[in-house]
Amino acid sequence: MTPTTDHENPLKPGGQDEYGSPATKHHRVVVSRHGGPDVLQVVEEDIPEPQAGEVRVKVQAAGVSAFDLMHRRSRSLPGTPRVPFTLGLDIVGVADKLGEGVSALQPGQSVAGWTFAQNGGGYAEFICLPASDLVPVPMGLDPAEAVCLVVNYITAHGVMHRAAIVRSGESILVHGAAGGVGTALLDLGKLAGLEIFGTASEHNHDVVSAFGATPIDYHTDDFVERIYGLTGDGVDAVFDPIGGVRQVRRSYRALRKGGRLVWFGVTGISRRGMAPMVLTMLMRILLGLIPDGKRAPVAPDLRKHNTWYRETLTELLDSLAAGKLKPVVTERIPLLEAARAHELLERGGYAGKVVLVTGA
Ligand SMILES: NC(=O)c1ccc[n+]([C@@H]2O[C@H](COP(=O)([O-])OP(=O)(O)OC[C@H]3O[C@@H](n4cnc5c(N)ncnc54)[C@H](OP(=O)(O)O)[C@@H]3O)[C@@H](O)[C@H]2O)c1
Repeated sequence: MTPTTDHENPLKPGGQDEYGSPATKHHRVVVSRHGGPDVLQVVEEDIPEPQAGEVRVKVQAAGVSAFDLMHRRSRSLPGTPRVPFTLGLDIVGVADKLGEGVSALQPGQSVAGWTFAQNGGGYAEFICLPASDLVPVPMGLDPAEAVCLVVNYITAHGVMHRAAIVRSGESILVHGAAGGVGTALLDLGKLAGLEIFGTASEHNHDVVSAFGATPIDYHTDDFVERIYGLTGDGVDAVFDPIGGVRQVRRSYRALRKGGRLVWFGVTGISRRGMAPMVLTMLMRILLGLIPDGKRAPVAPDLRKHNTWYRETLTELLDSLAAGKLKPVVTERIPLLEAARAHELLERGGYAGKVVLVTGA
C-alpha cells in the first residue's frame, strides 16, 4: 500500500518536516470502498485542528480489531460509516495541541483513548479527540502494549466485572481465548483469581496456558462435554464473543446453577449478515427467561459510562506499569502497511492484538 500522493513521507519523527519546521501534512488510511484489504488506501492531507474541548494527538500506536474487518468488508453492519472513512477504535500517542477550554492535559503528555466519538479514525498520524475520552499514560509504557488496554481490556473488564460480576475462586470459560479480547479476559481473570478454561485452535494453546488457563480445542472437542469433564457441574461464567444460536445455547449449557452467560460478539457469524445476529440476540433473551438459576446478562454498552471508562482505563494503565498485566501484541506493523495488518487478521492463526505503529 503506497500513499496516493507523490510525497513519500512529509513527516519525520517529532512532527517536523525535513527542514525542522512544524509539519503541516500527515497520512491517514481510508477505506475507499467496501471489500478486501486492498481497499485500504493512504491519503495525505492537512493535519487536523482541534476544536473546543478536543486534543490533537500524534498517534504512536493504533489497534486493529475484528470490528475493523467487519466495517471494511460490508456496509450492512449497523454503525458502519459511509465511505470513505478511517478505521481504528483505539490509540495511544502524544498530546500535540489542545483545543480551547482543555486544561486537564498538557502538550507533550502521553495519552490513550478510544475514538467512538468520531466513529473510528485511529489509523492516522494525527487525530483530534474529545479530551474527556483521553487519559494520561504513565511514563515509560510501550504504546503498543498500552493500546491493547483501551478497547480490548476495557471490554473484557466490562463483561467480567459489570455484567458477570465474577468473584475470586469462581471458574470461567472464555471463547476465542487467544484473540485480542480473549487474551485480555485471560489476563484479567488471572488477576481476579479465577479458574479459567479457554477455547482456541491447537496452535494457540501455549498462549492460553501461559495465563494459567486450561485450553480446549473447539475444532476437535465438544466444549460442553469437556467443561463437565473438567469441573463436574459446569462453570460460573461463560464469555462468548463467537455468537450463533447453537453456540450461545451450548455456552449456556456449560454453566452450573447460578452461572452467568455474557454474549458480546459475532466472530463466528459476522460474514453471514444480520439474521444470525438477531437470532442470537433472541436466543440470549429466551435463555435469560428460563427459571433454572442461571442468567444471561446483557453486555454493557461501555460507551455510555465515561466516568467508569476513564477510571478503569487509568487503573488498567497503572496495573500495566506495575507489571501486573501482560497484553499479547501479535505484531507491530507500520501504519502505512495497514493492508498487510488486515491480511494477517483475515488469514487468522495469530494470537493477541495486531497494532499499527508510526515513527512518532
Ligand atoms: N461488545 C463489545 O463491546 C465488543 C468490543 C470489542 C470486541 N467485541 C467482539 O469481540 C469479538 C472478538 O474480537 P477480537 O478483536 O478479540 O477478535 P480476534 O482478535 O480476531 O479474535 C477472535 C478469535 O476467535 C477465535 N475463534 C474463531 N472462531 C471460534 C470459535 N468457534 N470458537 C472459539 N474461538 C473461535 C480465533 O482463535 P483461534 O485462532 O485460536 O481459532 C480468533 O483468535 C468480535 O466478535 C467483536 O465483535 C465486542
